[in-house]
Formats: sequence, structure tokens, C-alpha cells
Amino acid sequence: MDITKNQPNHKQNHEVFDYNNVDYHKFWDEHNRTYEDAVERIAMRRLTKDMRGDCIEIGGGFGRLINEYAPKCSHVLFTDCTEKLVAQAKQYVEETGFQQVECQTLNLYDLDQLGQVFDNAVCVRVMHHVEDVSCFFRQVNAVLPQGGAFIFEYANKKNILEICRYLFRRPNIQPFDYQPSRRGNGIFYNFHPAYIRDMLQENGFVIEEELCVSLFRNGFLKKVFGYRFLAGLEKFLQKPLAKLHPAPSIFIKARKVEDCSKTATEPTYQKAI
Ligand SMILES: C[S@@+](CC[C@H](N)C(=O)[O-])C[C@H]1O[C@@H](n2cnc3c(N)ncnc32)[C@H](O)[C@@H]1O
Repeated sequence: MDITKNQPNHKQNHEVFDYNNVDYHKFWDEHNRTYEDAVERIAMRRLTKDMRGDCIEIGGGFGRLINEYAPKCSHVLFTDCTEKLVAQAKQYVEETGFQQVECQTLNLYDLDQLGQVFDNAVCVRVMHHVEDVSCFFRQVNAVLPQGGAFIFEYANKKNILEICRYLFRRPNIQPFDYQPSRRGNGIFYNFHPAYIRDMLQENGFVIEEELCVSLFRNGFLKKVFGYRFLAGLEKFLQKPLAKLHPAPSIFIKARKVEDCSKTATEPTYQKAI
């Protein structure tokens, strides 16, 4: 199955993971991911508690998380590059009566084409499909005003499980390698927290708040303890453990402090940490 498509019209031919052949509802409904959904909602509620004004969601899929932030916003532009998912999100928005939400098909490398700014940007479970992080962060920079909030999630390769695998010489990826690690055949990247921090800084953002999420993402734990218990426990740990980055998923609230939308595109970091 060809799971990637090259889109020649997008700057520097960035590869895009094709969700047209993926049943993304099924991913959530049929694979016991209630725990992951619950802890991501806890993180979203925390990071959007002061959200005001308008917001753009980037790579929002079928709209799973709209109800966590849209009620706080005057206007939402919901975007995703997969038409099929945008249609599902549109239907969900109509059914739930979120009149302030508008849905549009859009590639995350083309945000500047909107010619619009938003007070906030949200992007969850999309970074692992981003092969050019610097370009993407610059695009987000272009659609936020000074002081605008960027709330996003990334897959953390330096998590406890990957470190244990590495120590027992059974690594899936190199958890201490600064550069992003690509997994499998598709576009799946895991990132080092220092790389994400530096890319944010290089593209005009500072990290304001961090949360470590999905600490107990393990089939055995989910089966034995159930999602309510694990999510309840994690609620108390997401913030205090955040700086250690032990979890496979990290949520960040970053603030735009500098306009970098028109600066050089080449990443300058090549170091190993
Ligand atoms: C794992 S899903 C996450 C969906 C949603 N954010 C959620 O958490 O339920 C990844 C989403 O990113 C979208 N995506 C991937 N690459 C993209 C790109 N280059 N531009 C816009 N959306 C993209 C996909 O279409 C898909 O809906």
C-alpha cells in the first residue's frame, strides 16, 4: 500500500502522510485507546484554560478535540489536509452546533497562504508526520500575532520505555540522538525534547508550559488498572514530571515572541545531546 504521496506544489516537496486509506475513527474506537484520549483531554483542558479570541486547529482529523477548546473561542478555523476527515469534522461541528467553527482543507506547510492571524493555534498528534519541523514552526509563526499561543503535542523519543530498550540493547530508535528518528515506512518521526525546544526558539517561540502525557501507555497496565484509575493518577503527574520528559507524548504551550515568518529556512543545529 502506498501510504505517502509527494505533493510537488508544497514548498520543497514535503512528503505528506496520506490518511485517505486510514480509518482514523477505528484507531480510537477499536484499539482500547480510551486512556490515551482521556489523558490528552486532561492536558488540553489545562493548556487551554485561559484561551480567548480565535484559534486555528492544524491537522485536526475528524474533530476529536474540538469540544475541548472551541467553546472558549469566538471563532475557530479547523484545518486538515485530508478532505475525507475535514468532511467528517464538518458533520460533527454541524451536529454539535458549534456555529463559530469553520472547516477547511489545508496543508500545514501552507498556513501563510491564509493571510490571516489567530490568537491561538492547536496541533495534536500531527508533529510525528512533520518532516520539516522548522518550516512548520515558521508557518505557525506566520499565523500568530506577537504573544499568540501555540499548543501542540509531539512524540518524545527520550521516554522511559525507549531508554530501557536502549539500555537492554533492544532499541527501536536512538533515544539520546538529538536529530529526529524516522520509524517504519511511513512518515513517522519521534523527537528529542531538546530538538523541539531549539526549533521553537529558532522560530520565534518560547515554551511557557509543558506536560508529559500517556505515562501509562501500556496494554498490561490498561487491562489491569483500567483507564479511569490510570488517567486519574496521571492527572497529578503530568505537570510535576514534565521537565523529566518520561512519557511518550509531550504537550507544550509556547508563546510567539519574535516574528520569524520571513527568516532563513535552514536549521542550524546538528549537535548530539
Ligand atoms: C494522527 S491524526 C491526528 C488528528 C487529530 N489532531 C487528533 O488528535 O485526533 C494526524 C492528522 O494530521 C493530518 N496531517 C498529516 N499531515 C498533514 C499536513 N501536512 N497538513 C495538514 N494535516 C496533516 C492528517 O490528515 C490527520 O488528520
